[in-house]
Amino acid sequence: MNLLGFAQENRYEVPTNQVAEANRQPVVLLTGASSGIGLALSRRLLKEPCRLILTARESSLPRFAAAGIHESDRIAILPLDVTRLEERKATIEEANRRWDGVDVLINNAGVAFRAVCEHVTEADRVEQLNVNYHGPMGLIRLTLPRMRERRSGRIINISSVGGMMAMPTMALYSASKFALEGATESLWYEVRPFGIQVTLVQPGFIRSDSFKNTRYSALSRSAAENPGDPYRAHYLHMSRFIERYMGRARTTPDDVARHVIKIMRSRRPPLRSGATSDAHLFAWLRRLLPRGLYHEALYRCLPGIREWGPPRD
Ligand SMILES: NC(=O)c1ccc[n+]([C@@H]2O[C@H](COP(=O)([O-])OP(=O)(O)OC[C@H]3O[C@@H](n4cnc5c(N)ncnc54)[C@H](OP(=O)(O)O)[C@@H]3O)[C@@H](O)[C@H]2O)c1
Repeated sequence: MNLLGFAQENRYEVPTNQVAEANRQPVVLLTGASSGIGLALSRRLLKEPCRLILTARESSLPRFAAAGIHESDRIAILPLDVTRLEERKATIEEANRRWDGVDVLINNAGVAFRAVCEHVTEADRVEQLNVNYHGPMGLIRLTLPRMRERRSGRIINISSVGGMMAMPTMALYSASKFALEGATESLWYEVRPFGIQVTLVQPGFIRSDSFKNTRYSALSRSAAENPGDPYRAHYLHMSRFIERYMGRARTTPDDVARHVIKIMRSRRPPLRSGATSDAHLFAWLRRLLPRGLYHEALYRCLPGIREWGPPRD
C-alpha cells in the first residue's frame, strides 16, 4: 500500500502488469498553487512521497521562487490558466510525457465575484463559470483516460460552503460551485467502477486575505460606491460581514491543506467533505430544517437586513 493509498480501493481485478504501476510514486497535479490554500497545500505536498506538478497562471509563477519552491526531479512548475484549453492540454501532455500521467488531480484554482444578479453581465458570468466550473471539468476530462487505464486515481475538487448554499451578492460564485458540485456528483458514480475516487472539499470561512481578491463587476463596483444606489446596503453589509468572519475564522489555509492531505490518504474518501466547522453547521442546517424555514431564518439573519431596499416609512 503506498502512502496516498492508490489501488487499495480497487475492488476490481488488477492486471498483473499494473501491479508495479500501483506502487509507483503518485503524481499530484494542483491548480492555483501559488497562493492561499494552493500554496499551503504545495508546502504540505512537498513533504509527501509524491511527484508534484504545481501550476499557476504565467504571471503568478514567480511566487513559487519567492516561497522557496523550485523545480527538481520530483517537482514540475508549469504555467496553467485553467480557462485556456491549449494550456490545459499542454499541462496534461507534459504530465504524460514526464511521469506517465496524473494520479491525483486537485482542482483548487478559483475566483469569486461579488454582484447582485441585476449587476451581472454576460462577460462576468462567463468568466466566473470558466474558472470555477469549465476549467476544472476540462482538466478532469483530459486526466481521466490515463486514470481509467490504470484503474486508479483521485480527483479532488475544492468547492465551498457557497456550493451548498447561496448568499445575496454571491449568485455567480454559488452558481459556479453548485455546477461543480452537480457535475462532481455525477462523476463520482461514473468513475467509481474504474477505481477512481472523487471528493468535493467544502471550506467555509477561512482566515485569509482572499476576500481581497474578490472580483466586482463594473456595475457592482460603482453601485457599492454610490450612496444613491438601491443595492448599496446589500454590498456594504455583505462585504463587511464576509471580511469580519474571514478575519475571525479559526481555520487557516494550512488547515484546509491538511484536510486535503487527509482525504488523499483516506481509504474511503467521502464524496463531500466539510473542511471547516461552519461548513458542518450549514450542511447540518440544510439537512434538518424544512427549506421554507431555513430560507426565512437566513433572510432574517442577513447583516443589516432592515436597511436593504427602499427606505422604510
Ligand atoms: N478563502 C476562502 O474563504 C474559501 C472558502 C471556500 C472555498 N474556497 C475555495 O478555495 C479555492 C482556493 O481559494 P483561496 O482562498 O486560496 O483563494 P486565493 O488566495 O484567491 O487563490 C485562488 C487561486 O486561484 C488562482 N486562479 C484564479 N484564476 C485562475 C485561472 N484562470 N487559472 C489558474 N489559476 C487561477 C489564483 O491565481 P492568481 O494568483 O494568478 O490569481 C490563486 O492562486 C478556490 O476554489 C475557492 O473558491 C475559498
